[in-house]
Amino acid sequence: MNLLTLAHVLLFLPLTLAATHHNHPHPRTSCPYPSTTDITTIWNKLISGNPAGFISHFRPFLSWTVMGSHPLAGHYEKLSLFIVNSEGRLYNALAGQPTYTLVNVVGGCESEWSVQEMRMQAVAKNGRILDEINIWATRWDTEGKVVQVRSYVDGWATAMIIHENENWSDSTWLTNRTTYMPGPNGVDLGLVAREFG
Ligand SMILES: *[C@@H]1O[C@H](CO)[C@@H](O)[C@H](O)[C@H]1NC(C)=O
Ligand SMILES: *[C@@H]1O[C@H](CO)[C@@H](O)[C@H](O)[C@H]1NC(C)=O
Repeated sequence: MNLLTLAHVLLFLPLTLAATHHNHPHPRTSCPYPSTTDITTIWNKLISGNPAGFISHFRPFLSWTVMGSHPLAGHYEKLSLFIVNSEGRLYNALAGQPTYTLVNVVGGCESEWSVQEMRMQAVAKNGRILDEINIWATRWDTEGKVVQVRSYVDGWATAMIIHENENWSDSTWLTNRTTYMPGPNGVDLGLVAREFG
C-alpha cells in the first residue's frame, strides 16, 4: 500500500462504511461472530491487494495495540492513526508492496476473539529482506467488524528497517546535510533564536 492508496483508504473509509452498513452482514445461522471461513475471506482481500476492502472490516475507532518494543509499537484508539503512524511509516521504508500469506486462523464463530497468523515478506529500500510472522489477535463485534487488535510483530526486524531506511537515523559523516530536519521530537525554534540569535 503506497501513500496514495493509504490516502484513498482514509478518504473513502467513511463512504465504504456507510455503504456496507445497510447491507446484511455475512449470512450466519449459528455464529454471532465471523467464522474462520468468513475471516479467511476477509484476509484474502489483504492478500489479493485490496487493502480498502480489507480495512472496511475494522471499526474507524477501535483499540489497536502494536505489541513489542520498537519504533512502531504503541496503542492507537483510531484506525487512521495506526495506518499512518505504523503501517504507512513501515511501508515508507520498503522498496515495494509487501506480500502477505495467511498461515493460520484460530477462533471466531462462537468466540469473539480470533487469531490470524500471517507471513509478511518485503524488501526494504536499502535492500534488507523482511520476512517475518505477524500475529494479530482480533476481537469482533456481532456485525462482523473488528473492535480490538493486538498485533505482534518482529521487533528487531521492524527496528532495523526503520533505523536503516529513514533519513532521521540513517546518516553518516559522509552525508551532506542541506535541509532542516529536527527529528521526530521537533526543535524549539524560539529557544534556538534566543540562544543563537
Ligand atoms: C529522505 O529520504 C527520501 C526517500 O529516501 C529522499 O528522497 C530524501 O531526499 C531524503 N531527504 C534528506 C534530507 O536526506
Ligand atoms: C558533499 O559535499 C562535498 C563538498 O561540496 C562534496 O565534495 C561531496 O561529493 C558531497 N558528498 C555527497 C555524498 O554528495
